Amino acid sequence: MNNKDYTHRVSAAGRVNLIGEHVDYCGGKVMPCALSLKNTVWVRPNGEGVIRLKWTDLPDEVTLDLSDLERYRNLKHAKYHAGCAALWQKAGHRVVGCDMLLDCTVPFGSGLSSSAAIEVSTIAALATAAGEKFDPVEVALVAQKAEHEYAGVHCGIMDQFVSANGKAGHALLLDCATLEREYIPVDLGGCALVIADCKKPHNLVESKYNERREEVEEALRLLKKRIKADSLSRIEPYLLEEYKTLLPERIYRRAKHVVEECDRVNRAARFLREKNISGFGELLNASHASLSELYEVTGRELDSLAHAAQDHPACLGSRMTGAGFGGCTVSVVLKEGLASFKEYVAERYERETGYRAVFYDAEIADGIVVEEL
Ligand code: GLA
Repeated sequence: MNNKDYTHRVSAAGRVNLIGEHVDYCGGKVMPCALSLKNTVWVRPNGEGVIRLKWTDLPDEVTLDLSDLERYRNLKHAKYHAGCAALWQKAGHRVVGCDMLLDCTVPFGSGLSSSAAIEVSTIAALATAAGEKFDPVEVALVAQKAEHEYAGVHCGIMDQFVSANGKAGHALLLDCATLEREYIPVDLGGCALVIADCKKPHNLVESKYNERREEVEEALRLLKKRIKADSLSRIEPYLLEEYKTLLPERIYRRAKHVVEECDRVNRAARFLREKNISGFGELLNASHASLSELYEVTGRELDSLAHAAQDHPACLGSRMTGAGFGGCTVSVVLKEGLASFKEYVAERYERETGYRAVFYDAEIADGIVVEEL
């Protein structure tokens, strides 16, 4: 890799969400951690009217004309970069011609937010090349817009926000309605976080994700006929029960997941602050059950992987993480039982599904990192 001539190295993180799943777009609280799996951009201004992209692991080289960034929507990889540049420019920032070398260690399709890492690091690199100081919160908001407009996923703010604002060793407790945040140290005592990929090929994630989003918007619309609420996340579980007859059965189950998951996040934050890891782990199990039975975003593979983990004596809790429909689980596991845990889970999961799970080694890391070279 010839990266000596670049002026800066800018990276942004992939993420694992500990709890608070499918609630960000309902204004709920989430608890993700930025990971050491990340997207790195080596960048240098080139004094021309173009952005030149190269990848460490692809033969492609793409040149984007700065005067017409809208025209790259159909490109396979570079549409994200073009979209980010177009939207950053639209937000009033100076985008200058530059060369970028890109390298992503977030596994694609793993549900660990490779696209957020790519979007956030690209925008931070563009700002850096232009000599601008940037606000990581604004970078996250523009990156989310790029995901909406260029990937067609009507995602919430969680992934881009933690990719930009994550802090090493900490979980980010983020209120997605107000963007207020608290960093909670992830001190799991004798336990480790284990991330396992079910390796089921993703398909239809975008359309199913958007469908869930519509269902909970429908729930809020119907509940608003009788309840005063700006978002589903602000409705207490008991109130939903009181007004459940306003909702068709399926819509009720989706709403029930959201209001109960929001409640679990508050309890989980308390447990993490108090270092009550077994209480924390039980909430992970409850979250998975809800995502499986009420929200229906797990599928056979993620259920098999989470249940195998939950059944191992060294495991304090396990759940799917991210959008679901494939991707990863996150488990809290006693370090002394780690080897036997992985062996047991891998063997049972493969027997039940035919897929081989992959375990990722990752630390909880910072979000955006900019280094001058
Ligand atoms: C995806 C989205 C996030 C969030 C999660 C589910 O990762 O990008 O905004 O909705 O799914 O919690």
